[in-house]
Amino acid sequence: MSLHQEFPLDSSICYLNHAAVAPWPKRTADAVCDFARENTQRGAANYPAWMKVEQTLRNRLAELIGAQSPRNIALQKNTSEGLSAIAYGLNWRAGDTIVITDQEFPSNRIVWESLADKGVTLCEVSLTSASPEHAIIDALDESVRLLSVSSVQYGTGLVLDLDVLGEACSQKGILFCVDAIQSIGALPFNVNQCQADFVVADGHKWMLGPEGLALFYVSDQAMDKLSLNQYGWHMVEDRGNYNVKTWEVAQDAKRFECGSPNMMGAYALNASLSLLLEYGMDNVQRELLSKVAFLEQALIRHNDLELITDTERTRRSGILTFRHRKISSESLYSQLMAQGVICACRGGGVRFSPHFYTPESQLARAVELIPA
Ligand SMILES: Cc1ncc(COP(=O)(O)O)c(C=O)c1O
Repeated sequence: MSLHQEFPLDSSICYLNHAAVAPWPKRTADAVCDFARENTQRGAANYPAWMKVEQTLRNRLAELIGAQSPRNIALQKNTSEGLSAIAYGLNWRAGDTIVITDQEFPSNRIVWESLADKGVTLCEVSLTSASPEHAIIDALDESVRLLSVSSVQYGTGLVLDLDVLGEACSQKGILFCVDAIQSIGALPFNVNQCQADFVVADGHKWMLGPEGLALFYVSDQAMDKLSLNQYGWHMVEDRGNYNVKTWEVAQDAKRFECGSPNMMGAYALNASLSLLLEYGMDNVQRELLSKVAFLEQALIRHNDLELITDTERTRRSGILTFRHRKISSESLYSQLMAQGVICACRGGGVRFSPHFYTPESQLARAVELIPA
C-alpha cells in the first residue's frame, strides 16, 4: 500500500488534528464519488448491493474491536447519540451513582448530569494521581451502577488501562461504558479483554471516516438492560415485511437503529476501515507511536516548550499536548494554524495528533514553526 497515494494531502498543510476530524483517505473519497455517481445514474436500483456494503461495515467494526459478532454492533449518528441511548435506556433508581473522570469530553459528562432529576449522582474522579485506575476503582462503592470513561482522554492523551477497569466492574457487578473515539483506529482495542458492556465511537477521528456515523457496541448481557427510546420500521425483527401488523424488537443491536441508514456514510467509513484493517492495527499502532515518539523528542529539544501529556510509555496515544513558556496557547495555536499546521487548543495547551501515515518531515516542520 502506498501511503503517499492513500493520503494525497495538500503539501502546504501539516495535518496534526486526527483527534478532532481526520482527512479522508483517497479510497474513501473514491467510494463516496462512485456512490454519488451511481445515485445519479441508477438511483437505488442496486439497493441489495448497498446493504452488503453496510453489512461489511458492521463486520469490519466488529473485527476492529474484537467483537465476536456484528450482532452486537449498531450504527448511530455519533458518540453522543450512543451515550444518550445508554443513559436513557437504563432503569435508574434514586441513589444510583455513575462514575466518570474529571477530564472527559463534554459528551461523556453532560448526558450523565442530565439524569440528576432521577436522583442519580455523578462522581468525577481526578486523573492527576500516579495511578488513575486505582483512583477510579476506589470510587466504585455499592451505589455505583455504571462507570463511563474515555479510553484516551481527548485533552491530554492519557491512556486508561481498560482491562483493569473492566475487571473491577465485572467483579463488582457494575456496568462498564467506554467512549473509545480517541483510540479506535489508532490503537488496537479488544472488547472482550476489557469486558466493556458498551463501546461508542464516532468514525471521523482515528478511523478516518466522515462525521455522522458512529459505532455502538452492546454486549449480549447488556442488550436487554436497555429500554428503547426510538421506534420505527428498521428496529424490528421482521424488517421489510411491511404488511404484518404485529412486530417484535430486533434481537440484535439493530434494535437501536429506528429508520433508514446513513448509506453514504456507510460507504465512506467502510472504505476507511478497509485501509486500517489492510494495514493492520498492530502496524498502525507501531507506526503511530513511533511518530509520536519522534514528535515528542522534537518538542523536548525546543527549549521553550513544556509537555502536558504524560509521556510514560504505557500511557502513550496519538495525542501530544504542550504549552509554550512565553506564548499563550491560544496565540500559538492561531500562529500555527495560519502557517498550515492544523492542530487544536485543548487540555490546557496546543494539541498535536498525527496519525500513522504522517511523514516525520512534517512533524519536524511543525515543531520548527514554533517560535522561541
Ligand atoms: C472523547 C470524545 N468523545 C466524544 C467526542 C465527540 O462526540 P460526537 O461523536 O458525539 O460528536 C469527542 C470529540 O472530540 C471526544 O474527544
